[in-house]
Amino acid sequence: MKIGNLILSGRVILAPLAGIADSPFRLLARRFGAALVHTEMISAEGLSRGGAGSLRLLDFKPEERPIGVQIFGSDPERMASACKLAGETGPDLIDINCGCPVRKVVRKNGGAALLKDLKLLEKILLAVRRSSQVPVTLKIRSGCDQGSLVAVEVAKLAQECGFGAIAVHPRTREDGFSRKADWNIIAEVKGTVDIPVVGSGDVFSPEDAKNMLDRTSCDAVMIGRGSFGNPWIFSRSNTLLDQGQLLAEPSLEKRIDVCLQHVELSAQTYGESTGVKKMRKHMVWYTKGMARCKELRLKLSTLDTLDQVRQAFSDYLAQFERKQGTI
Ligand SMILES: Cc1cc2nc3c(=O)[nH]c(=O)nc-3n(C[C@H](O)[C@H](O)[C@H](O)COP(=O)(O)O)c2cc1C
Repeated sequence: MKIGNLILSGRVILAPLAGIADSPFRLLARRFGAALVHTEMISAEGLSRGGAGSLRLLDFKPEERPIGVQIFGSDPERMASACKLAGETGPDLIDINCGCPVRKVVRKNGGAALLKDLKLLEKILLAVRRSSQVPVTLKIRSGCDQGSLVAVEVAKLAQECGFGAIAVHPRTREDGFSRKADWNIIAEVKGTVDIPVVGSGDVFSPEDAKNMLDRTSCDAVMIGRGSFGNPWIFSRSNTLLDQGQLLAEPSLEKRIDVCLQHVELSAQTYGESTGVKKMRKHMVWYTKGMARCKELRLKLSTLDTLDQVRQAFSDYLAQFERKQGTI
């Protein structure tokens, strides 16, 4: 898949995920073969004010490439200057958020609110396109509510404004995460525009990734919640798509090993105590479905040093070894 002059090595992409897809998680997703990753959404206003929180979200490591920086906002000039600022950190592309349903964002006309003001959206798209040296992409929901589905119209607008690709999460702002993602809308968008279309929504397994590609003919799929505690979904999906082979889920030991790598990356990025605390929710996801894990999961969500985490996992594994592998 090609976005402007950027060539991606595969068809499975890590979605932008505020509060989840930070640098450690993106690194891990890339190691497992995600063809592209995105930063968490960053406020254009925050960036142009030089806000420390927003600037921190721009940080990424060379090994995370190719990476898209995602920006949200509603003022065309601010968006353009945020785009320039973001461009200075050298991302591979800039993505505009036109799908966030969170009240704090839509109240200021950003995110999914832009779907009800296509004149304003056009001004933003043109301003952003002009100010960016790298390809620009747009990520949308299907509309504000079921009575105003505008995905096809917005995709055409993005193409006319010179955008390199469009990602479609086919739920409305009002839907939040209720109801199933309507993949027919992805197919409709794909049937209308010539720029690459990325499908997003309800891909929780390699088979889902293949189904979405087959059913919608989209150019790539984006995985969000399906990657939580499950970054190997990228390599398993790639193997299914490229070789037609469905690999088994990793063993218990492998899952724990990947989780520990993730905790270590987080500790390196944020310092040990903050890094481990930030990992608590991820550790709970990694251990979901493991046999007799209730006590382990309760413990993991209270820990704040690497040694404590390593010890908790090694105690967990030891209890099974004592029972001769009855996991
Ligand atoms: C915790 C969380 C954070 C998200 N943050 C963002 C974000 O920052 N920017 C964005 O465009 N979408 C964001 N999304 C939406 C996802 O990128 C994706 O489109 C959506 O979750 C549907 O895909 P999924 O079913 O694979 O999760 C977020 C979703 C979740 C669950």
